[in-house]
Amino acid sequence: MPVAFAIAEELNTKLIAAAATAGLEANAFAPEMRTADPQHGDFQANGALGYAKARKLNPRTIAEKLIAALPPAASEHFDVSIAGPGFINFKLKPATLLGWLQTYDSVEHLKSGASHFYGGYRHVVDFSSPNTAKQLHVGHIRGMVIGEAISRLLAFCGAEVVRDNHIGDWGTQFGKLIWGYKHLRNDAALASDPLEELERIYKAADAATKENPATLDAARAELVQLQNGDAENRALWHSINLISAGAFDKIYRQLDIRFDHQLGESFYNEKLQRVYDELREAGLAEESQGALVVFHPEHPRFKTQPFIIRKSDGASNYASTDLATMLYRIEHFKAHSIVILTDARQSDHFEQLWLTTKKWFEKKGYRLPRFEHVMFGSILGEDGKAIKTRSGDPIKLKALLDEAEERAFQLVTEKSRELSEPERRDIANAVGIGAVRYADLAQNRSSDYVFTWDKVLSFEGNTAPYLLYAVARIHSIFRKLGQDAYDPGVTTGATAPETAAEIALARKLVGFASTLSQTTAQLRPSYLCTYLYELAGEFSSFYTADKVIVDDPAIRARRLLLCARTLLVLETGLRLLGLRTLTRM
Ligand code: ARG
Repeated sequence: MPVAFAIAEELNTKLIAAAATAGLEANAFAPEMRTADPQHGDFQANGALGYAKARKLNPRTIAEKLIAALPPAASEHFDVSIAGPGFINFKLKPATLLGWLQTYDSVEHLKSGASHFYGGYRHVVDFSSPNTAKQLHVGHIRGMVIGEAISRLLAFCGAEVVRDNHIGDWGTQFGKLIWGYKHLRNDAALASDPLEELERIYKAADAATKENPATLDAARAELVQLQNGDAENRALWHSINLISAGAFDKIYRQLDIRFDHQLGESFYNEKLQRVYDELREAGLAEESQGALVVFHPEHPRFKTQPFIIRKSDGASNYASTDLATMLYRIEHFKAHSIVILTDARQSDHFEQLWLTTKKWFEKKGYRLPRFEHVMFGSILGEDGKAIKTRSGDPIKLKALLDEAEERAFQLVTEKSRELSEPERRDIANAVGIGAVRYADLAQNRSSDYVFTWDKVLSFEGNTAPYLLYAVARIHSIFRKLGQDAYDPGVTTGATAPETAAEIALARKLVGFASTLSQTTAQLRPSYLCTYLYELAGEFSSFYTADKVIVDDPAIRARRLLLCARTLLVLETGLRLLGLRTLTRM
């Protein structure tokens, strides 16, 4: 019997089938699988208890019936036992552990194992999505790195992923920007640091409109001109967007982030009338003080606080474009699932968007996708307040990343003076950028977190430097042997794990499958981070307890297999999180 990739998930399915075979009310039976206390096994199914209790039956008898009804392959792969009142424990046999490690021996094989999680599903992932003409600052990094990790993870698990950068390239800021561009621009500054200059222009124009009502009117007139298709303003708008996109791209490249599409808000301009018409015809939208709005009577707040889908002056807004975006994503991309990442402050908007979309699609008979607003908290400084520079401005992302590389370079130089400067620069790039990125991914995304350089760049704890170092260390084991860890030959002749440390490490490796399934189900990369950190810890314990480079060829092969697979899973996991791994540090 081949070993399944996701052993726990497969066992769950088998238990449900066994319930039917054993004559239980299979629809009412849930296996309630969880990770077992490692002393007793790998997985524990607690479902017999609840089932028996509800029917005044003996849970142990139910558990026995279930075990008897399991197909023979289950006993081939597990030691099965009943504990306490009726918990069923499953302990993977060493031969099963070996089978898994031999089957999932490359990135391709891990990927094909994971591909049944989302095979045949198309996910649109809308992430980063910054507003034009503003520089990216620290706050923007969360959506970028979490979005990139989620996209990679879903694709690894078989989904077809459409990455869409929904740029905020339309809206009232363009009135001020265009007026400022015409009246306040400094061409030299625009040539040397265009985005910086655009930001200055915007701020200056904003201040000018506050001082002088006539300027405010002029800025508004520019916006109306733009919306009416005035050629000069359209051209200016276009060049402002290009400048902005060029600056964003630099950072995307630095962070190895890519998109399949960059359909900004403006892309939906001609698609809005259909939204207004359909929502009105469906009886969902109504006029209120000149605006077009959708109330949700069943909701405690949105029954009085409507979703404004067109402003009273007739202009579109964030809600109008997002509704059109939902429709486009099911009609054009045929999305089964839409995932949008923004900070938690937008949760009301997305709740209203989804309530409205559900009602609208149902009325029209459109296929309803799954929808997830993946939200995240803020990054705080050491004082517990939103992270800022000393002058009180938001920290620019570019400056943060450059500082990360520079600090990592100092650290690497202290640790490895013997390496050449280009080598140290390369390591510093992977460590510095990786550290900032990992620090973010490792957090529970729903909460705020405090950013400190010492924590982010520490070689101890759940950090990128620690994990990158663990990877480099395993590479060095193989290097000393004159072998390549990824050469299939290095593990031939390996037998099943035997010592306690070998078995513990092998079990942890097999847990990669459940980790991927949980990480993608919850869209929480932090689960994968925790797992990789624990795996590296398990490897350290193994490496301390059991000598790998021993004369006995059988023991050596058995332990090298564990080294090679730990490396494979660590590197695969870190790359899914967007990190670049190193062979030496
Ligand atoms: N541009 C928005 C912002 O900067 C985020 C857009 C997210 N995507 C969306 N479809 N609403 O907050």
